[in-house]
Amino acid sequence: MNIPEIITRKKTMPDRSVILIAGEADQAVEALKDDRERAYVKKRFEGKADHVMLDRLDHRQWIVPVPEQGSREEKMEKLRQAAYKIAGEVIKADDQEVQVTDKDTSPEFALAFLEGLLLSFYRFDKYFTGNRDKPEDPLPEKIIVVFPGIADEELEALRVVVRAVGYARDLVNEPVSWLNALRLSEAFAEMGREAGFSVEVFHKQKIEAMRMGGLLAVNRGSVDPPTFTVMEWNPPDAVNKKPVVLVGKGVVFDTGGLSLKPTKDSMDQMKSDMAGAAAVGAAMYALAVNKVPCHVVALVPATDNRPDGNAYTPGDVVKMYDGSTVEVLNTDAEGRMILADALAYAKQYDPELVLEFSTLTGAAAVAIGKYGIVGMGTAAEEEFVALGQSGERVNERLVRFPFWDEYKELLRSDIADMKNIGGREAGAITAGKFLEHFTSYPYIHLDIAGPAFVTGNNSYKGKGGTGVGVRLVYDFLKNKCKK
Ligand code: BES
Ligand code: ZN
Ligand code: ZN
Repeated sequence: MNIPEIITRKKTMPDRSVILIAGEADQAVEALKDDRERAYVKKRFEGKADHVMLDRLDHRQWIVPVPEQGSREEKMEKLRQAAYKIAGEVIKADDQEVQVTDKDTSPEFALAFLEGLLLSFYRFDKYFTGNRDKPEDPLPEKIIVVFPGIADEELEALRVVVRAVGYARDLVNEPVSWLNALRLSEAFAEMGREAGFSVEVFHKQKIEAMRMGGLLAVNRGSVDPPTFTVMEWNPPDAVNKKPVVLVGKGVVFDTGGLSLKPTKDSMDQMKSDMAGAAAVGAAMYALAVNKVPCHVVALVPATDNRPDGNAYTPGDVVKMYDGSTVEVLNTDAEGRMILADALAYAKQYDPELVLEFSTLTGAAAVAIGKYGIVGMGTAAEEEFVALGQSGERVNERLVRFPFWDEYKELLRSDIADMKNIGGREAGAITAGKFLEHFTSYPYIHLDIAGPAFVTGNNSYKGKGGTGVGVRLVYDFLKNKCKK
């Protein structure tokens, strides 16, 4: 990850590049001294521009008005998107430093803009060498933040969340040639050391001793051992009596196994099949560094899914960690096999709520695309409402799918307790219903197959891994555990 350094100051320096977030756009325009500039900016804003850049050769000034139309959440998102465009202009202008300041705005808008700007400067450049034909334009080295109305702690908390999103994006962008299950668990251990949460990694022997049959079945085609990572943040001032448990799908690469995926538009992006794991690990990082008073546990079962002489096969019957048997009819429905063991393992915590993130089904991505998360489950209405509100705030929006018991009929097996696939109908829901079987607590399943990894680059959320889920969990738990 490569992101600029952030420095806070009390005052902006004149004649240096500066971005002004303006609550009162008209006043900001009137304050411009040059008549021609003022007329130009007026005209651009009348033409509905979301920002204007004034190029003064050796430095620049950007004016970004807080949008007049829309809900609070929509305004925040428009500011993040404007920040993305400005970030591109800053890079293009080759500004080494840029100041960001606000006038007549409320803190949430200034912070949303800054969040969008910082996220836009993320780059995964680990594999660039000096041998690249056209080197990337350099990022600015410093962002100088002059927000008189915002406390330093709040800026620091935002910086931590942005760093957490960067960690998640790095993990998703890492190919399996580096990021196997073991390295994923080591990355969590490292994040735990830095942030101060505890991390325990179960290795193959222990996973065998625990009889996590789902995880072991998927791992049988792999030459790399599986891992099962348990993370815990339990600060002395935790507000909740029972922990919230997060579960993340850690399939470091999904070939489909013997039910092999085709390469084009299907297997080629499957290094991202651990995006759920990345999201919960990175959320733990942000919660712990920012000392959110919430008792949280995160569980990550991890392996790759490959075809091999010993790979699990269609027709196999697998005995799961909870003792249930599953008839495997498609080895590409591997996420639910490993998640089932983690969800059953979560029972011992008697959780208040379990949130599980997974790139689980193409069906979820087909249904709503990259624009939102498909959610469903058994938790109380209030939990869905609160999570939905967080989703609107951070623009990781939730679409709730039905979770009727009739869908279970589609999972009936002739020879085992359940099949691991439903059929053509309601693929995202039958996957959720399969997982529900292994739960005994309020549960929300979040399918992030659509938004976890994107190919076009036209948003602060990035190209490649997006880190979806990190800001959602952080916002949700920060609010849930308010003192
Ligand atoms: N990892 C995939 C789901 C996926 C697809 C994620 C596209 C991101 C983008 C998952 O393991 C899978 O292969 N699911 C199958 C399930 C089917 C066999 C029932 C699917 O969706 O096709
Ligand atoms: Zn699969
Ligand atoms: Zn998968």
